Amino acid sequence: MTPLDPERIRPRFPALTQEVSGRPVVFLDGPGGTQVPQEVIDAMTAYLRHDNANTDGAFATSHRTDHTIRCAREAAADLLGCDADEVVFGPNMTTLTFSLARSLGREMTSGDEVVVTRLDHDANVAPWRALEERGVRVHEVDIHEKDCTLDMDDLERKIGPRTRLVAVTHASNAVGTIPDVRAVIRAARGHGSLVFVDAVHYAPHGPLDVRGLDCDFLACSPYKFFGPHLGLLYGKREHLERLRPYKVRPSHDEAPGRWETGTQSHEALAGLVAAVDYLADLGRGGTGRRADLLTAMDRIRRHERRLVERLITGLLRIPGLRFYGIREPKRFDQRTPTVSIRLDGLPPREISRRLGEAGIFTWDGNYYALSLTERLGVEASGGMVRLGLVHYNTAAEVDRTLEALGSLSL
Ligand SMILES: Cc1ncc(COP(=O)(O)O)c(C=O)c1O
Repeated sequence: MTPLDPERIRPRFPALTQEVSGRPVVFLDGPGGTQVPQEVIDAMTAYLRHDNANTDGAFATSHRTDHTIRCAREAAADLLGCDADEVVFGPNMTTLTFSLARSLGREMTSGDEVVVTRLDHDANVAPWRALEERGVRVHEVDIHEKDCTLDMDDLERKIGPRTRLVAVTHASNAVGTIPDVRAVIRAARGHGSLVFVDAVHYAPHGPLDVRGLDCDFLACSPYKFFGPHLGLLYGKREHLERLRPYKVRPSHDEAPGRWETGTQSHEALAGLVAAVDYLADLGRGGTGRRADLLTAMDRIRRHERRLVERLITGLLRIPGLRFYGIREPKRFDQRTPTVSIRLDGLPPREISRRLGEAGIFTWDGNYYALSLTERLGVEASGGMVRLGLVHYNTAAEVDRTLEALGSLSL
């Protein structure tokens, strides 16, 4: 397999040519949203120029819009490893998850239990906590503080005969940990529980395979994997057909359309197709889009693995730097290239601000992984600084970031 060369990929992303004070921007804000290749911009523009309409009409632009939606469902299905009618679109993962939780809640009664984790973004916590209003009890699985991994013994303790759903992240958007989702699903199944997987942070870094995982639901957001602002939800067909969504009466009552409230961002769906095709192109072998996507994610993983090793090795040499998460290279298959740090004597916002002035774009705070920053004891003092690599980042960018952080720590 030929290694991914970011220098050949970068010209496809117009935003990457931006500069601050005459130097190219280093985009390390990927976990908050990635840049998009030109083909995504073109697809969205072309939709708005030629096909812009609502759905199910008796005229050409509406037919083309229906076609765009079908193409988007097929592209998403190839990405997720499911059938097109198991893909639900929405404005973002958070909205889709609140809406699903509300419907699942209709099947739950007082005393039923839901399990969430401390590693999760609040979008995979708050929608389930909202079920407490119905008398549902919510348990939170703890982490091991020293490496920010999920405490699987605690998970076993928290899952029980009344557990109706386990909500777990595929990867932490704050510290990059990839939990053993298969083991979580096995534990949940042992008690007959459903499983919801938040793959928002994982999606740009690894292959998605809902059938292989055998999860019941999985959500992700194309704007985190080089596409437009949009949310995707996979649901097993039986659930999408059985559960009752909250919907308006005249809209379709067949899955998956019955889950899509109101008019979608059709231009974003056109952009999604282009984003999935862009990814598939990185693994093109001529055996079909799903196979190409799997090859692409493998190439991406290898490239990111080299980058994150360079980053973490350099970070650990910086005096006064506090590092959160998995740090041993031999365990890097258990993490994404997203790391969180602090520096003695400088608040995270100040670090991020100074890096921003130097043209290095990072996030500071809790990035909505609130349970985690609280557990790590950093919430009250500004959280952490997140350095998030994706496949368009380069070794030279990593070195520039290390140099900038090194000079801040002095
Ligand atoms: C892990 C994770 N889950 C959920 C979300 C929420 O996604 P959305 O913005 O699509 O609602 C994010 C966004 O940062 C995230 O990183």
